[in-house]
Amino acid sequence: MSKRVGFATRMGAIAAAVGSAVGLGNIWRFPYEAGVNGGGAFILVYIGCIIVMGIPVILSEFIIGRSTHSNMKAALKKLSPGKKYYLFTYVCILGSFIVIGFYSVVCGWIIEYLYQAALGGLSGHTPQEYSDMFTSLISNPWRCVGWTVLFLILNFMVMSRGIEKGIERVASIMMPLLFLILIVFCVKSLFLPGASKGLKFLFYPDFSQLTLRGVLDAFGQAFLSLSIGISCLVTYSSYFKDDTSLTKDGATVAVLDTLVAILSGIMIFPAVFSFGVEPTAGPRLIFEVLPGIFQQMSGGYVWALLFFLLVFFASLTSTISLSEIPITFLIEEHKQSRPKAILWTALFTFVLATLAALSFNVLDDIKLFGKNIFDIMDYAASNVFMLLGGLFTAVYVGWILDRKVVHDQLTNGGRLKGTAEPYLIFCLRYVAPVSIIFIFLYLTGII
Ligand code: PHE
Repeated sequence: MSKRVGFATRMGAIAAAVGSAVGLGNIWRFPYEAGVNGGGAFILVYIGCIIVMGIPVILSEFIIGRSTHSNMKAALKKLSPGKKYYLFTYVCILGSFIVIGFYSVVCGWIIEYLYQAALGGLSGHTPQEYSDMFTSLISNPWRCVGWTVLFLILNFMVMSRGIEKGIERVASIMMPLLFLILIVFCVKSLFLPGASKGLKFLFYPDFSQLTLRGVLDAFGQAFLSLSIGISCLVTYSSYFKDDTSLTKDGATVAVLDTLVAILSGIMIFPAVFSFGVEPTAGPRLIFEVLPGIFQQMSGGYVWALLFFLLVFFASLTSTISLSEIPITFLIEEHKQSRPKAILWTALFTFVLATLAALSFNVLDDIKLFGKNIFDIMDYAASNVFMLLGGLFTAVYVGWILDRKVVHDQLTNGGRLKGTAEPYLIFCLRYVAPVSIIFIFLYLTGII
């Protein structure tokens, strides 16, 4: 791409970054991870991680992207000429493919539920029947692969027609609506019988329930949810204008993203306990619980439809930002035309996503450490690739990058005050690397 255009307004830039951050990570994955890891204590660690690692890494990606107005590889070459740091870009690209591989399968499930909601098939069942319904979906290879492929076709059609900006505009109306609807569902869920148990699970930190594996999960979840560690925000911020406040924008993205995750938790857990679903159900958790909530509401049909439609749009803005990573890379670094870059990205994504979609049925006996292909991709993406990317970004901006670049970007050349620069540097130099390295060493049994 020879001509690079900026986002027209500050709102446009923030909306795109929030669009990337808010997605299935918040609505589907956050509740299931919190459920598996015992609730309250996990959430505390998660919030702590957002403050001391998430926001600093968001800002670091912004600094790399906006100071160079380039994709990750070109940016690292410009910032550190003659050095090999740019090679890390390949890890980011592989990471982005793995995320989109398993993520699009869940987007496929969302389309199936949207379809079921439209047919009226989501009402009038018992919790056990909702559970069976999900099992029957994932054990059917045709349905799983079919919906996943349909989602990917929509995603790449949007990208090839160059209407991502249009989708982002639609999403900037849909997002506030999603936010409102989540609040309505939270209220509904809180009035279910036995709801207080869910609240206690969510907000009472019982540290005896949290393992170091759970801490790693909280870190990984924070990185996945904020879209950091695979250069997605480097790509987005390369289009930012030079006069926006990176600190303010980064903090806004993190706060909104966390709010959506917590609201999703408040929506799901009272219902989990009220309907007697296991909080540790994992990836299937929200699909077993949500239909039960809709069924309790007058006009449940419309609520269900609206909800899945909004979640669909939230997911689409996330997958657009994910696919943009390899596409921009191929166009700018390998001089491919946009259609060709999209084609290659789509082909590779289709292969990975199909493997993930088949891992609950045809390929369900292929397992590594007891995890099927989908679970391995889900785990490796956030707990390995994104955390490694976060570590690299923190060390690079904290220790290697010229401090003047950091200072100039945060203060817009000295014009902005109160950018929390010393705090940022402290977190990037010490807190983030030490925590991530410690947890890796511990879990690989080295310490
Ligand atoms: N943050 C997105 C979500 O929570 C997922 C995502 C990860 C998007 C990485 C882009 C890059 O759903």
